Amino acid sequence: MTEKNFILKNLDTTNLEKGSFTWKSPSNIALIKYWGKSEPQIPKNTSISFTLNNCYTTTILEFSKKENLSKEFSIKVFFEGKTKDGFKPKIVKFFERIEKYVPFITKYDFVIKTENSFPHSSGIASSASGMSALALCLMSIEKELNSDITDEYFNKKSSFLARLGSGSAARSIEGELVVWGNHKKIPESSDLYGTKFPYDVHDNFKNYQDTILLVDKGEKQVSSTIGHNLMIDHPFAKKRFKQADNNISKLSEILQNGNLSAFVNLVESEALTLHAMMMTSNPYFILMKPNTLKIIEKIWKYRGDNKSDICFTLDAGANVHVLFPEREKEKINTFITNELIAFCQNNQYICDNVGSGARQL
Ligand code: PMV
Repeated sequence: MTEKNFILKNLDTTNLEKGSFTWKSPSNIALIKYWGKSEPQIPKNTSISFTLNNCYTTTILEFSKKENLSKEFSIKVFFEGKTKDGFKPKIVKFFERIEKYVPFITKYDFVIKTENSFPHSSGIASSASGMSALALCLMSIEKELNSDITDEYFNKKSSFLARLGSGSAARSIEGELVVWGNHKKIPESSDLYGTKFPYDVHDNFKNYQDTILLVDKGEKQVSSTIGHNLMIDHPFAKKRFKQADNNISKLSEILQNGNLSAFVNLVESEALTLHAMMMTSNPYFILMKPNTLKIIEKIWKYRGDNKSDICFTLDAGANVHVLFPEREKEKINTFITNELIAFCQNNQYICDNVGSGARQL
């Protein structure tokens, strides 16, 4: 599919006066990281993520026909029941980017009521779940205006729109493993939207666990926009994009053959490479905190002592995602409670597992 497939002409809004749609959309954690993009939100390399089950955004989008014919967007935002004007500039920017594909958005007054299942400012990026939930609500309006839309088109266009709000949001429509970015070994993969990992996944990866240790709940030190831009003149950028491309091929094999030690090695290497890119850019950043390193050392020791397949991954921040197979759940939960929670801010952590994607409520 190309960008043109997402522009539907002549959608008639005459008979749709008002309504409301609600979607619950998940966050995701990348195993092969997306870091570096070109306009408009086209990734420099393919990424792949686990969809999360317990970290999600629920968004209600209420809409009613505007009384005036102004072309300005009319948006009111509520976050956890309270007006949140602070979210508006990002949403207006999102609407500006997607207007070409959903032109009906100038015709309605919108009220957006949104909340997250995870604590605000927990350092868990809400842009993936938030932008995908909003994109899905808008697609529900489009479907109301054109009932011929297939489920496949609905999902692809939701991901396409979500991507224009936040790149990683493209991977938050479906589950459980989602690929975003064109790759020769992944049929149907696209730079424009996320697609489900197309091969049978080994049982070792069924219901994979992800416990998120909240090491630092502060505001993001580097915004995604600044972060991705750091890759533009980065001395190692070309090598990194090539490496990510190879890593996708490797991970695709691993997910099919169930080789957990290869998985552990690849996933940790990806996490550290993401941080290495930040440390070697200019300006440079260290996003890990002392406790991030302490947790990593503990994980490595536990893995050695217990012949375990526990591993970690990181986002663009200090929090640690502890990944492990379901069969190790009980033992690793004890280890986490006894030895890792002490390194979390206010002892806060979130037990999660791989989930199946967004749902309309
Ligand atoms: O979606 P963005 O633009 O916030 O970028 C997210 C980038 C990482 O979370 C660091 C990696 C990824 O692939 O999710």
